[in-house]
Amino acid sequence: GAAVTQDISAIEDGQMIVVKYRGKPIYVVKRTEDMVAGLESVTPLLSDPESAASVQPEYCKNTNRSIDPSILVVEGVCTHLGCAPNYRPDVGAVDLGGNDWYGGFFCPCHGSKYDLAGRVYSGVPAPLNLPVPEYGMDGTILTVGE
Ligand code: FES
Repeated sequence: GAAVTQDISAIEDGQMIVVKYRGKPIYVVKRTEDMVAGLESVTPLLSDPESAASVQPEYCKNTNRSIDPSILVVEGVCTHLGCAPNYRPDVGAVDLGGNDWYGGFFCPCHGSKYDLAGRVYSGVPAPLNLPVPEYGMDGTILTVGE
C-alpha cells in the first residue's frame, strides 16, 4: 500500500521529526523518560485521558498512546479544524492557567493544547486527542501505514 518507512535512529532525545503520510504530517517524537513520566501528572487536566473517544490503533490505546513509550507517532492535525499544532516540549512553555505545562503541542489557530501523548486538554476548542495512525516498529525503522 502507501506505507512509508523512516529510519528514526538519528532523532535526538526530546526532538521531533515530521514524516509525510498520505499528505498528512506525521509527528514522530523521541520522548525522554522525564517526558513519559510527566504524562501521569497531566491526566486530570485532559478531555479524553484514556483515549476512549479518540482515534488510534488498539495497540496504542494506553497512557503513552504508543508501541514503545519512548517513541510517539501522531498525526499533526488538530482535531478542531485541522491546523498543524506546534511542538512545544519545554516545561512551562505554554500557559495552562496555573497548572504546569510538561510539554506537548500547541495549536496556533485557536489555542488547543495537547500533551506529549497528543492527548487534548480540557477547555480548548479541539474535542479529541491527536489521531495515531497505524504504524509498526522494527528496530529503528518506523513504518507508517499498512
Ligand atoms: Fe487547532 Fe482550531 S484548528 S484550535
